[in-house]
Amino acid sequence: MLHIEGLKVEVAGKEILHGIDLHVPAGETHTLFGPNGSGKTTLLNTIMGLSQYQITAGTIRFAGHDITHIPTYERARLGIGLSFQRPPTIHGVKTRDMVRIAAGGREVDVDALAHQLNMEQFLGRDVNAGFSGGEIKRSELLQLLARHPDMVLLDEPESGVDLENMALIGSIIAELLHKDRKRHRREKSGLIITHTGFILDYLEADKGYVMCNGTIKCHGIPRELLSSIREHGYEECIACRI
Ligand SMILES: Nc1ncnc2c1ncn2[C@@H]1O[C@H](COP(=O)(O)OP(=O)(O)OP(=O)(O)O)[C@@H](O)[C@H]1O
Ligand SMILES: [Mg+2]
Repeated sequence: MLHIEGLKVEVAGKEILHGIDLHVPAGETHTLFGPNGSGKTTLLNTIMGLSQYQITAGTIRFAGHDITHIPTYERARLGIGLSFQRPPTIHGVKTRDMVRIAAGGREVDVDALAHQLNMEQFLGRDVNAGFSGGEIKRSELLQLLARHPDMVLLDEPESGVDLENMALIGSIIAELLHKDRKRHRREKSGLIITHTGFILDYLEADKGYVMCNGTIKCHGIPRELLSSIREHGYEECIACRI
C-alpha cells in the first residue's frame, strides 16, 4: 500500500529526515514513536505532500503510484487522508461545510457522522475556531470519517482527548481501519503517531517504529516498543545499534 524508500526531507533548508525506509502493507496499521522534534510529523506531512517539505532524495509509492512529487490533492484523491497534529483554524468556513468538502463526491449524512463523534453542536461553528484541544482532534476525525481514506495518517489522535471521548475516538479509528473485519479482509491501512500508546487499547497495531533524529532506529511489536521506551527511555533507542 505505502512504500517509502531512502526518503530525505528538508524544511526551510535544513535536513530533518535523513533516509527513511518504511512499508505499510494493505490492511495493516503501524505506529510511530519518538521524542519531540524527531521528525514524526515531518514524515506524515511529507507523505501528504504539504508544500514546505522538500524531498531531496528517495521515493514514496502508494497503491502502485509514484507519489513522490505529485500535489496534495492528487494524493488525497488516490486515497490518503491526514489528521493533523495541529490543524489550522479556518475562519469563514463552517465545520458542516468542511465535512462535506472532506467527503469529496461521497454521499454522507453529516449529522449522523457528527452524532457518532458527539460533535453535533460544532457543525455550525467555524472550523476549529475556539475549539478545545480535544474538540480539535474530534473535528479532524469527523472530516476523516467523511473522507474514508484507504491510508489513514493520524498525528497524535489522542492528544488532549478526555478519557470518555478517548473510547469514542478509539472505536471510530478502529472502524476507519476496518478492525471489525478479519485480518485478510481489511482494506484500509494506517500510520499513527502516538506518545502515550493509549490508542493501542482500542485497536491492534501490526508494527511499530521508533524515530530518533530523523531516522528510524528500531521496529517491532508496538506494545513491546512502548514498554521498553517506558522502562529505558529514548536514550536506549539512540544508543542501540541493532
Ligand atoms: N520551518 C522550520 N524551520 C526549522 N526547523 C523546523 C521547521 N519546521 C520543523 N522544523 C524542525 O524539524 C524537527 C522535526 O519536527 P517534527 O514536527 O517533525 O517533530 P515531531 O517528531 O513530530 O515532534 P513532536 O513529538 O513534538 O510532535 C524539529 O526539530 C522542528 O523544530
Ligand atoms: Mg509531531
